[in-house]
Amino acid sequence: MALAVLLASASLVAAAPSLVARQAITPLTTAEIDVFTPYTYYAAAGYCTPATTLAWNCGTNCEANPDFEPVAAGGDGNSVQYWYVGWDPKLETVIVAHQGTNTSQLLPVLTDASFVLESLNATLFPGVSSSVKAHSGFANEQAKTATTILSAVQTAISKYGAKNVTLVGHSLGAALALLDSVYLPLHVSGVTFSTVTYGMPRVGNLDFADLASDRPISHINNKWVLLWLLLIDPVPTLPYQFMGYVHPTGEIHIEDSGAWDNCPGMDNPSTLCSTGDVPTLLNGNVNDHDGPYNGVEITCS
Ligand SMILES: *[C@@H]1O[C@H](CO)[C@@H](O)[C@H](O)[C@H]1NC(C)=O
Ligand SMILES: *[C@@H]1O[C@H](CO)[C@@H](O)[C@H](O)[C@H]1NC(C)=O
Ligand SMILES: *[C@@H]1O[C@H](CO)[C@@H](O)[C@H](O)[C@H]1NC(C)=O
Repeated sequence: MALAVLLASASLVAAAPSLVARQAITPLTTAEIDVFTPYTYYAAAGYCTPATTLAWNCGTNCEANPDFEPVAAGGDGNSVQYWYVGWDPKLETVIVAHQGTNTSQLLPVLTDASFVLESLNATLFPGVSSSVKAHSGFANEQAKTATTILSAVQTAISKYGAKNVTLVGHSLGAALALLDSVYLPLHVSGVTFSTVTYGMPRVGNLDFADLASDRPISHINNKWVLLWLLLIDPVPTLPYQFMGYVHPTGEIHIEDSGAWDNCPGMDNPSTLCSTGDVPTLLNGNVNDHDGPYNGVEITCS
């Protein structure tokens, strides 16, 4: 089954979020869940160093997609998150992956009031309304690698005659992938962009979420219940809605049972979805941030 079939056909959804929020929450089949597995491994490989991703010699998770052909990689894992770009001949897509950050470093960023919602840089995002706003920390991080990744994507597209580009990332890397999903299509035409993210925080305001929902996206988040102990990933619930942040459409929530549910609309309030399920940070458990996602822990290993 093609990824494109699974990803929310979002322009339809974005038109009427309040109506869609009342749509049924539907479980994914095992076959549908399995479609995401190669992308989960690609998100995990986002944590590996550029030298190892360029050689595609980076451990079990990383090399789980053995046919991958790297094109470019960069970042230092410190002041600039790692990233890589390459081609998957089986999935017939260019892959763009961003490194995340560990939860103890991300939570302070998500709750720090000195990061404000700001308009996107008009040079990088030409023609995008100033009413479209994103978290300033995420926007600054995306800007550091934007033009380098753009040229790597253009190189990969022409080298492989690609028709698809898929953006992946976990945690902070998910936020960067979402910003790239708005940025890259402003500069590249003739290809289909899709986005698959894991443990994604909220990234921008309603106008940003609307724009990000215009193309196929799945953002998968995790919850696991062990006996009476509720273990939930809090990151997707941050920054809070009352601060003006909204998730795009395309949420897939992993339930206590391990079932994966499609959550239609933006910030679906059902307790089967992240926003309704994890109302505050206190309810969350950071152990769930890294997975497992269909058996895969997101780490470079
Ligand atoms: C997460 O970041 C903290 C703070 O920088 C660091 O002390 C810790 O070792 C990191 N944990 C992992 C698993 O990388
Ligand atoms: C916007 O991005 C361009 C290109 O990266 C950069 O030169 C410029 O300084 C940025 N503008 C602001 C206001 O950050
Ligand atoms: C990618 O593009 C090809 C056409 O080159 C298409 O057949 C395929 O279904 C696309 N794959 C995805 C994941 O969209």
